[in-house]
Amino acid sequence: MKTGLIGAMREEVLLLKNDIENLKTEQFGSREFYSGTINNQELVMCLSGWGKVAAASTATTLINHYQVDQLVFIGLAGSVQPHLNIGDIVVANQLIQHDVDLSRLDGFPTVESPFWKTFAFDVFPHSGEKAIQAVDKFVLNLRKGSYPKIHSNYNPAVYVGAIGTGDQFIASKEGKVRINERFPQVLCTEMEGAAIAQIAADYQLPCTVVRVISDKADEDAHDSFAKFLFEDISHISVELAKLILS
Ligand code: ADE
Repeated sequence: MKTGLIGAMREEVLLLKNDIENLKTEQFGSREFYSGTINNQELVMCLSGWGKVAAASTATTLINHYQVDQLVFIGLAGSVQPHLNIGDIVVANQLIQHDVDLSRLDGFPTVESPFWKTFAFDVFPHSGEKAIQAVDKFVLNLRKGSYPKIHSNYNPAVYVGAIGTGDQFIASKEGKVRINERFPQVLCTEMEGAAIAQIAADYQLPCTVVRVISDKADEDAHDSFAKFLFEDISHISVELAKLILS
């Protein structure tokens, strides 16, 4: 099983590069792709950059050039539900492009075709189950003190649910309400997951998205996101990635 691992920003995945054996680096367009193995598992890793277009382009290269068998995305998200706290982890069972709105085309014949109708993508049950097991193991290891580079008081709750994706950094009450009203099932919001899920669905490949909550998508989101990105996420995502790959 060859895995295509994507992160939007260097802090979210790049530390993992140190663990890749037989590392080979290739450039396609503006992106570098790092391929090799970790614990004998084949891997190709890439930083997509922010947003749905960047994520879709990266996923397509991973599939068409590297023939990966699954796509995995690890990164940060803003929570849009009051019970999700900073540091909690969300494993997607559904990914929804919350900024797509075809409602004005209601009744238009081609919108009825399955290809156009839905911008919500379900995660294959098997890959979803494997991701949940990996995240549960991560939390168990945390509690055992197995990760000296991660804060000893970090004790996240794990949620499984819908993740919303849009080309917007949400940082206001109005922005959150807009997502909550259209998609009450969405737990958190980010900018790439559902684009990768759409490419995975096109090619009938499993797709795993795991997000750590960095902010509450409110007026404090900028500061909270920056703090989590620069102080916390790197070691958390490396350990999550290794468990998801294993
Ligand atoms: N990624 C992390 N926090 C986010 C937010 N508030 N909006 C969009 N993407 C995010």
